[in-house]
Amino acid sequence: MPFCPPYAMSRPPLYFFYLLFCFFSLISGIQPADLQILMKLKSALQTSNCTSAFKSWESSNSMCNFTGITCNSDGSVTEIELSRQNLTGVLPLDSICQLQSLEKLSFGFNNLHGPIMDDLNTCVKLLYLDLGNNLFLGWSAPDISSLSQLQYLYLNRSGLSGSFPWKSFQNMTGLVRLSLGHNLFNPSPFPNDVLQLTNLTWIHLSNCSIQGTIPAEIGNLKEFINLELSCNNMTGEIPVEIGNLVNLWQLDLSNNSFTGKLPVGLRNLSKLERLDVSMNSIEGDLSELRLLSNLVSLELFQNKFSGQLPTEFGEFKKLVNLTLNKNNFTGPLPQNLGSWAKFEKISVSYNFFTGPIPPDICKQGTIKGLFMHHNNLTDEIPANFVNCTTLLEFRINDNLLSGTVPAGIWGLPNLLIFDISFNSIEGPITSDIKHAKSLVALRAENNRLSDRRRVRAEV
Ligand SMILES: *[C@@H]1O[C@H](CO)[C@@H](O)[C@H](O)[C@H]1NC(C)=O
Ligand SMILES: *[C@@H]1O[C@H](CO)[C@@H](O)[C@H](O)[C@H]1NC(C)=O
Ligand SMILES: *[C@@H]1O[C@H](CO)[C@@H](O)[C@H](O)[C@H]1NC(C)=O
Ligand SMILES: *[C@@H]1O[C@H](CO)[C@@H](O)[C@H](O)[C@H]1NC(C)=O
Ligand SMILES: *[C@@H]1O[C@H](CO)[C@@H](O)[C@H](O)[C@H]1NC(C)=O
Ligand SMILES: *[C@@H]1O[C@H](CO)[C@@H](O)[C@H](O)[C@H]1NC(C)=O
Ligand SMILES: *[C@@H]1O[C@H](CO)[C@@H](O)[C@H](O)[C@H]1NC(C)=O
Ligand SMILES: *[C@@H]1O[C@H](CO)[C@@H](O)[C@H](O)[C@H]1NC(C)=O
Ligand SMILES: *[C@@H]1O[C@H](CO)[C@@H](O)[C@H](O)[C@H]1NC(C)=O
Ligand SMILES: *[C@@H]1O[C@H](CO)[C@@H](O)[C@H](O)[C@H]1NC(C)=O
Ligand SMILES: *[C@@H]1O[C@H](CO)[C@@H](O)[C@H](O)[C@H]1NC(C)=O
Ligand SMILES: *[C@@H]1O[C@H](CO)[C@@H](O)[C@H](O)[C@H]1NC(C)=O
Repeated sequence: MPFCPPYAMSRPPLYFFYLLFCFFSLISGIQPADLQILMKLKSALQTSNCTSAFKSWESSNSMCNFTGITCNSDGSVTEIELSRQNLTGVLPLDSICQLQSLEKLSFGFNNLHGPIMDDLNTCVKLLYLDLGNNLFLGWSAPDISSLSQLQYLYLNRSGLSGSFPWKSFQNMTGLVRLSLGHNLFNPSPFPNDVLQLTNLTWIHLSNCSIQGTIPAEIGNLKEFINLELSCNNMTGEIPVEIGNLVNLWQLDLSNNSFTGKLPVGLRNLSKLERLDVSMNSIEGDLSELRLLSNLVSLELFQNKFSGQLPTEFGEFKKLVNLTLNKNNFTGPLPQNLGSWAKFEKISVSYNFFTGPIPPDICKQGTIKGLFMHHNNLTDEIPANFVNCTTLLEFRINDNLLSGTVPAGIWGLPNLLIFDISFNSIEGPITSDIKHAKSLVALRAENNRLSDRRRVRAEV
């Protein structure tokens, strides 16, 4: 075969079939049929023993009936939805993106590896792309500027690294959700290109090396319901423009280096249910949060907050987790804390709180963790606490508490850890402690307990 180029000899099978394939494509004048492309996908990914995803992918079945496949009325594939299918292998985007009508490509929560091929750029009709929660370890994300129709993009927790092609968002004006968190991208400032995308409702850019300040223009993205920027290296103050995002449901800025006060205007975020600014250096008081009565989770620990807690916190009916530990708060705790809310966890430890322990904390019968240690709380343990039967951990050590431990509390049935050490508590340890079947650690030393034993037990 003198006309045969030499390199055809060096890679016989693949090249040969490719030529054959091109030949038939040419004479039939069509793109490879959708079915062939799906079969290629199946063979590329059918490497896991525990996947049942492709059971129905047999040529005896209609392609549009394959698990995870959706077709349009012309019988062309529009959606591939194969998330959470234990798939392994390298995604053959070079062939997948030849599906002419493909709008949704969803492979989240699998074990795909290898590169995300540049061919992704030919999937120009995509509205929905989910490659999140995979193992593309060591690969960088390709430029995706040509996917200008995209509305949903999930690449979070997928092992990507290198510099992210932020410019790709310039013309992606319809983008609604953007999740890129938990990847090892090169450090980058907050991507200005997303600030023009006025349909955005969801940004998840936690733990992906964003640095510098939050730009004031964030306030233009009025549709935001979720803004997650935790675990980055961000600095400066939280911009007042955040107060324009009146649809916010969650704001997570935790574990950065933010400074200054909570901005005036935060009070406007009446739909806010989850606020986490823990592990920063934020100062000032909480008066901006006074009216945010839809809060479910309020996490402010490890900052430099000071002042008294708004008494309104005691009226919040949905509050489940309240963590204020390691700040400089002073004054009393709102005394009706727990009267309404089904708390799971309250932590106010390592502050300068004074006054009594709110008596109704266990009223709703839900709380599991109560951490009040290292404050200057006074008075007795409330008698109502005999009803704290759901409590697993109860720490009130290093306060100025006095009186006796009310009947029943030594014997709370689910307590694992009970620490009242370093107070001025008196009286005996009563025999009902025999009901404390789960107790792992009891500390009561440095009190005025009547048996004059220094109690420290690791059961
Ligand atoms: C599939 O299972 C067989 C035997 O159970 C095992 O030898 C093989 O390594 C497995 N293959 C994969 C890809 O897990
Ligand atoms: C994925 O694997 C897990 C455990 O190996 C199994 O329980 C589950 O059914 C598998 N899921 C699918 C869709 O095959
Ligand atoms: C798809 O499957 C259903 C039953 O599972 C069958 O009734 C239907 O005819 C199939 N459609 C095609 C196009 O094969
Ligand atoms: C992360 O990606 C998955 C899909 O892979 C998505 O379901 C999830 O909502 C994303 N997480 C966030 C916080 O955006
Ligand atoms: C966005 O569109 C403009 C105008 O069509 C074009 O000049 C620019 O290159 C596009 N940006 C990207 C990143 O594709
Ligand atoms: C933004 O959303 C609105 C309402 O859903 C829609 O009509 C509009 O087309 C979207 N804008 C873009 C650029 O896709
Ligand atoms: C941050 O992302 C890395 C991967 O880049 C991951 O290993 C780590 O667990 C993530 N950290 C958190 C707190 O989620
Ligand atoms: C955060 O950024 C500062 C300077 O901008 C740098 O010195 C520091 O090492 C960074 N920290 C981390 C954890 O990246
Ligand atoms: C918090 O209190 C400690 C101990 O009194 C003090 O050293 C520190 O300066 C205070 N910080 C702020 C921000 O008020
Ligand atoms: C409350 O905190 C616990 C962990 O301390 C967590 O498991 C739970 O999901 C949180 N609940 C809410 C509603 O955020
Ligand atoms: C408790 O009060 C004493 C004296 O009033 C003060 O010295 C101490 O710093 C306070 N401790 C806490 C944790 O508030
Ligand atoms: C404990 O709860 C029961 C039932 O809700 C109630 O009758 C009782 O008065 C409570 N005890 C205390 C000391 O609050």
